[in-house]
Amino acid sequence: LNYQVTRTRKEIYETLVKGLLRLEYRGYDSAGKTLGLTTGNDNTICIIKTKGKVKALDEELYKKDSLDLEEKLGTHFGIAHTRWATHGEPSPVNSHPHRSDKGNEFVVIHNGIITNYKELRAYLINKGYEFESETDTEVIPKLTKYVYDNRENDGITFSTLVERVILQLEGAFALVFKSWHFPGEAVSTRRGSPLLIGVRSEQELTTDNIPIQYNSGEPGFLSALHHVHSLISPHSAIIEHTNKVLYLEDNDIAVVKAGKLSILRVKHQVGEDPVRAIMTLQMELQQIMKGNFDAFMQKEIFEQPESVVNTMRGRICFDSNTVILGGLKDHLKEIKRCRRLIVIGCGTSFHAAVATRQVLEELTELSVMVELASDFLDRNTPVFRDDVCFFISQSGETADTLMALRYCKGQGALTVGVTNTVGSSICRETDCGVHVNAGPEIGVASTKAYTSQFVALIMFALMMSEDRLSRQQRRREIIEGLRVLPELIKKVLALDKKIKAIADELYEQKSLLVMGRGFHYATCLEGALKIKEITYMHSEGILAGELKHGPLALIDKDMPVIMIIMRDACYTKCQNALQQVTARSGRPIILCCQDDPEISQMAYHTIELPHTVDCLQGILSVIPLQLLSFHLAVLRGYDVDFPRNLAKSVTVE
Ligand code: G6P
Repeated sequence: LNYQVTRTRKEIYETLVKGLLRLEYRGYDSAGKTLGLTTGNDNTICIIKTKGKVKALDEELYKKDSLDLEEKLGTHFGIAHTRWATHGEPSPVNSHPHRSDKGNEFVVIHNGIITNYKELRAYLINKGYEFESETDTEVIPKLTKYVYDNRENDGITFSTLVERVILQLEGAFALVFKSWHFPGEAVSTRRGSPLLIGVRSEQELTTDNIPIQYNSGEPGFLSALHHVHSLISPHSAIIEHTNKVLYLEDNDIAVVKAGKLSILRVKHQVGEDPVRAIMTLQMELQQIMKGNFDAFMQKEIFEQPESVVNTMRGRICFDSNTVILGGLKDHLKEIKRCRRLIVIGCGTSFHAAVATRQVLEELTELSVMVELASDFLDRNTPVFRDDVCFFISQSGETADTLMALRYCKGQGALTVGVTNTVGSSICRETDCGVHVNAGPEIGVASTKAYTSQFVALIMFALMMSEDRLSRQQRRREIIEGLRVLPELIKKVLALDKKIKAIADELYEQKSLLVMGRGFHYATCLEGALKIKEITYMHSEGILAGELKHGPLALIDKDMPVIMIIMRDACYTKCQNALQQVTARSGRPIILCCQDDPEISQMAYHTIELPHTVDCLQGILSVIPLQLLSFHLAVLRGYDVDFPRNLAKSVTVE
């Protein structure tokens, strides 16, 4: 945050804290930490870090006797950050900004993930740098100091310094840099993570979509604007100050100096420079929090093309067909030697285990048990030292899953966490693990966390089979499937209107059956759970192989049935089930592959899905059911995000 006008330090802090409060809806309150920072007129940098809610930061601020909050600052710069942990548990030391040294020579805030941080950290430790945190971010200010101290000439600009630093970084980032070497100046840049600049100019920039003119002269110099500005990742923190924003492109370096903004390009970039435009945000605050969506659940369903990418980010090399899950690397040998895998969870997380069991069995050639945590404990299930136990949990706090973890630990098994919440109890208590990185999930009914857990478990199966010659063709096929998965998810999401029309027909029904088998049994369970959770309709996920052993008695012309029939090894068997349903006057709604006339002609309605590798198809088949449950709940007039009697995180057994 940088203003030209004189402000008191207190005003700066209050603006920053307010911005952070706007971000709390994203779920950062439970997992992230916040901090504030200002430079004074003497250009020293003061850092305040706290744990927990933003309010704690505000309280901390007023405890700092040494700071004259009423001091009027001419040149000043404040940065604030709220963290959703990816590396290192939530704690003040892991919160941002990170710094080069105790004197705060260079400080940096970061959103994203630096995938080569281990190598950089080892290099810098070797050069004598001491690290304070467990984060990937801390390598950035340390590397900045290293580059600065080893510069060839004294005249290095802040932006050149930043450019040299980011050339060494791999992964995704939106960064803001500050240093007392460069008074009144801050530099920001991005690659892969979003970053926008708020522009507070009423006189010069009053119309929308003004292309920013390229300035001639200095190579790489793009533009200069006045009356700046806030540098911010999500826009909800900015809207109350300005609705004029400029989105930075990858490899842009933005310099804010004395209230003036310049954007430079990292040199040696191939391709055309994109034209930046000042956009006007039309949204109200409330709207921004949910984007254009009516509910967080709906927003999270539509985030899945991005959330699955975040799960895979930095972990799959599509050129060499390799998968590396950093959190399991050191235990891989031990896992490969195990007698069996036991995958444990509750609710949706259990369904992610059911969904991936077959491919885990196929690629690891191990015996794989999937278990509901409560039942697993009730049975005092025998567990041995050579078992490897996986604990799947979005929140990382579910009591049943946590108890099962402690039980398995007590039996001497190796424990692995698969969670969406860094620093959660399950993360801390397991021997090793995988963060699914789906981003905060707010809707009680889990959606994007499920598809990310699914992808994470598939990646584990791929990692386990890397040296199996007989599996290479299959691995290539799956990895290629993962590469195009986001595009296919987008195609499924485009069916939303059609699914809404089906919901219009179904919403007054009492019951809804979901039937399938093989790779889609998990989708049936998960679809039925979504429908129960938020629509309060009775819904059952039925294994089609069990149809004739009971559920067939429910079928008549009035009972709504959804059937999943994809072109995989179970296709013929599913066709048989379909015959049995239609022979009893059932009117099935069928989820099938595109261009399958044989199936379509027997259906009451079809929802046609793009085809992918059999073991990934369940990611696509669950999405129409997520959407259907959402529309049914809305039509029935219920609160989609907060269903009655349920909690997002169940911390009691
Ligand atoms: C609760 C939630 C479910 C969730 C289950 C497991 O019951 O309402 O949506 O699937 O807990 O939660 P976890 O955080 O362990 O994945």
